[in-house]
Amino acid sequence: MDHKDLPPRGSFTSKFGVIAAAAGSAIGLGNIWRFPYVVGENGGGAFLVVYLLFIIGIGIPVMMSEFVIGRRSLRNPYGAFKKLAPGKPWFLVGLMGVGAAFMILAFYSAVAGWTLEYLFQSVTNAFEGKSSEELTGMFDAFREGSIRPILWMLIFMAMTAWIILAGVQKGIEKYTKVLMPLLLVLIIILDIRAVTLPGASEGLSFLFKPDFSKITGKTVLEALGQAFFSLSIGMGTLITYGSYIRKKENLANTALSVSLADTFIAVLAGIAIFPAVFAFGIDPASEEGLVFITLPKIFQQMPGGYIFSLMFFILLTVAALTSTISVLEVVVAYFIEELKMSRKKATILAAASISVLGVFAAASWGWASNLTLFGSNIFQIMNFTSANILLPVGGFFIVIFIGWSLKARIAGDELTNSGSLRGRYLPAFMFIVKFIAPIAIAMVFLYKLRVFGN
Ligand code: TRP
Repeated sequence: MDHKDLPPRGSFTSKFGVIAAAAGSAIGLGNIWRFPYVVGENGGGAFLVVYLLFIIGIGIPVMMSEFVIGRRSLRNPYGAFKKLAPGKPWFLVGLMGVGAAFMILAFYSAVAGWTLEYLFQSVTNAFEGKSSEELTGMFDAFREGSIRPILWMLIFMAMTAWIILAGVQKGIEKYTKVLMPLLLVLIIILDIRAVTLPGASEGLSFLFKPDFSKITGKTVLEALGQAFFSLSIGMGTLITYGSYIRKKENLANTALSVSLADTFIAVLAGIAIFPAVFAFGIDPASEEGLVFITLPKIFQQMPGGYIFSLMFFILLTVAALTSTISVLEVVVAYFIEELKMSRKKATILAAASISVLGVFAAASWGWASNLTLFGSNIFQIMNFTSANILLPVGGFFIVIFIGWSLKARIAGDELTNSGSLRGRYLPAFMFIVKFIAPIAIAMVFLYKLRVFGN
């Protein structure tokens, strides 16, 4: 392959570095903020079952496909499709990914801003002695404010841009390796506290006892969207990261490890949240506010809660950062490679333009609260559209591309490192990307649109 036309590419320099970077992208607010409230809204255990099925049957194959596309092409998502399928319209899938990156980064940074606010409130011990109602009021009042949510969002965006400026090796890999394991330890401590609360078992049944009568078209679509969102798939993030993975790395193993870690963390977050939700009488359908109301209650009930709460919000901020850098990197890699910008110019332009959208996301309960569509504010529209529509549609085309357009030999080559790995699963993988995954995604949309009744 000829790379003379490309700017110098960094790459991840160790096996652990690759997994840490991809897991750093996957593990974030999606696991700790989004997963619990989406489970809460969609009835608990049955949702979890559908979610797990989607992770295995669709998520992991899509992740492998993205890695294949990225490492084969060594390009950003748009350039990757242009290179692998010259003269065909597949590059539109890459462009849609770049668009989705704008939307995701905008509302995600707003939530990361809430996290910074809660870190700040932890410092001043503001949760001390507050009831669930008072904590709910505190969250609502903050979110309805006109300045703070925006200011924190902008600070967080600047932090993301700053890491991206440092480039792939010095930035992304360095920050993800150390702090993710620490986050895991802290969540486990939270779990222990949560499950030993009086009344915890009700929460565990909510999470783990499926009641399949609660499954509707909306539930299934939300489960699919959450699976895509949590694994960072469907918009080319992992195409971009795949392009930084060295040729000797095992792509299938990486996809499997990352998906397992991501799912594990989400379930651990659920185990922390739901027992506490029931123990403290918090509404499981508290939507975007759920963890911001529940976590402070748990910290109140812990010896050393002050320190734990500080540490937790610091680590959550870092987890959010290792996710947002992976989203911003998609846009930046696109600007650098396709619009021939310097990394610096690309980063500043991307972060500044996404911040404009971010301001509206952050103000969605404040001065922008009357900008609504079907009862949803701007934040909620971005959140719903990107996760439940753009990502699954992107994933649909990614598996179709691998299954039907790219020569099967190429996927086989990348997944076996040109035959040096055995890849006995390859026929099963090809069957899934050709038939199972695309048909399943299509059926979820048809089910939601009530084509099959409900
Ligand atoms: N997966 C991340 C999380 O769970 C968020 C994220 C990072 C993402 N990159 C993405 C979501 C790409 C969708 C697509 O927090």
